[in-house]
Amino acid sequence: RLLIMDFGSQVTQLIARRLRELNVYCEIHPYQKVTPQFLSEFAPMAVILSGGPASVTDANSPRPPKEVFELGMPVLGICYGQQVMMQMLGGQVERHGGSAEFGRAHVTPTDQRIDLLTGWFLDGSGREQVWMSHGDHVSALAPGFAAYATSPGAPFAVTADLERRFYAVQFHPEVHHTPNGRTLLENFIRDAGFTGDWTMAAYRDEAIRLIREQVGDAKVICGLSGGVDSSVAAVLIHEAIGDQLTCVFVDHGLLREGEADEVVTMFRDHYNMPLIHADEQELFLGELEGVSDPETKRKTIGRLFIDVFQKHAAAVGGAKFLAQGTLYPDVIESVSFSGGPSVTIKSHHNVGGLPEKMGLKLVEPLRELFKDEVRALGHELGLPASFIGRHPFPGPGLAIRCPGEITREKLDILRKADAVYIDQIRKHGLYDEIWQAFVAILPVRTVGVMGDGRTYDFACALRAVTSVDGMTADYYPFSHEFLGETATRIINEVKGINRVTYDITSKPPGTIEWE
Ligand code: XMP
Repeated sequence: RLLIMDFGSQVTQLIARRLRELNVYCEIHPYQKVTPQFLSEFAPMAVILSGGPASVTDANSPRPPKEVFELGMPVLGICYGQQVMMQMLGGQVERHGGSAEFGRAHVTPTDQRIDLLTGWFLDGSGREQVWMSHGDHVSALAPGFAAYATSPGAPFAVTADLERRFYAVQFHPEVHHTPNGRTLLENFIRDAGFTGDWTMAAYRDEAIRLIREQVGDAKVICGLSGGVDSSVAAVLIHEAIGDQLTCVFVDHGLLREGEADEVVTMFRDHYNMPLIHADEQELFLGELEGVSDPETKRKTIGRLFIDVFQKHAAAVGGAKFLAQGTLYPDVIESVSFSGGPSVTIKSHHNVGGLPEKMGLKLVEPLRELFKDEVRALGHELGLPASFIGRHPFPGPGLAIRCPGEITREKLDILRKADAVYIDQIRKHGLYDEIWQAFVAILPVRTVGVMGDGRTYDFACALRAVTSVDGMTADYYPFSHEFLGETATRIINEVKGINRVTYDITSKPPGTIEWE
């Protein structure tokens, strides 16, 4: 296995992700934890030193133990990792020096042997795009090292001591904006002797082992929303500890057509999981009556969700753990932005605050994974493809697709229109191309004519976006034929809607949901 020593870079997790893509097992550990003893127990085949915000020119800046360089294994230093490696082995690092580089940069080769290291420039292209983010840079190489490529801000952008198998780069090979970074990482792991036979199946087994170790014979409760993340977490934990796990599915009356049945059938009947189906529609819809402000809606739903969850979880009796399907992007966002200067655009509801209140510890087996990896794990666990590929659905459900006051009438109309729209998308084979698609029912009635009669019904908006992570999004360019056919179907099949519009706002400036 490979050890990634984390010095606090925002993108350390991407190193792990790239290595998993290359079928290599790795673990990230914060630098404080990596003592000489830890190192000998972990016994890595190779070490990667990550980037980080510190400056090695400061006396107390973080360092790896010197044993990292004495155990005869290959080491790759990235950004701060390069600088700390160079300084510890006898080179020099210059502070700032007016040559900071942030963002896209290009490196050019200074030694033809670079293709052995990076697999780059073989086509004689002379320049390679990389992504840099550094203030300091290496200004003198340590003994034994040679320079292989340079950039305007980093004279030693690619360096190596081939004999000792130490490699160090100033840029970030792990990010998307270093298009050939993967080749560099691949060469490194091949050099370190990894055969690339690790798989998601192995990840599953390891995750199961860790869950068993953490939980012992205690009881665990899990809030199941029917979304991919909580579903994968629940199935994984159930595989690890069986009926020590109880899931609580809160039906707040804001779900899509057939959704509650689908979730309950799948988890209770197919997976045989202990599942509490908390039918709390009356409570939620009652409290939401007359509420039209989006933030009040979200906060009300969040508060009720916690109350209801707590009530039903108490029935499980003696649970010591709360399981959540937290993904890595959720972790990094809350770490980097909590208490930060960013404004609250929307109060995303989760069960934050609940663990402390109930004296529960968290089990979060997906904390290291990205969405597509969770889907791969779900596949490995045998979840049906149709379930794994589902579009995301927000915790507050249809409430935030119903601007203005929420009524049962509007929710019923919305559910029907949404079902027709999604059916259309599936029939045209577009479902998997789209990140998320839904109907929003607008708080206006418009005049129409159907048959020979006048109608005065609701208008609705179709929304469909493409996105990688939900942070930014573009509207999906449906053909006019598709839009026309869909509008006709909705108006003909859904009583209560007589006008259909298509939302062509990207994010930013819009958001994906309407509230
Ligand atoms: P926005 O509307 O902020 O949404 O562009 C981005 C993504 O997040 C989902 N979303 C939520 N998910 N709880 C959730 O679990 C929420 O409160 C929530 N609000 C928005 C939204 O569906 C989209 O995928």
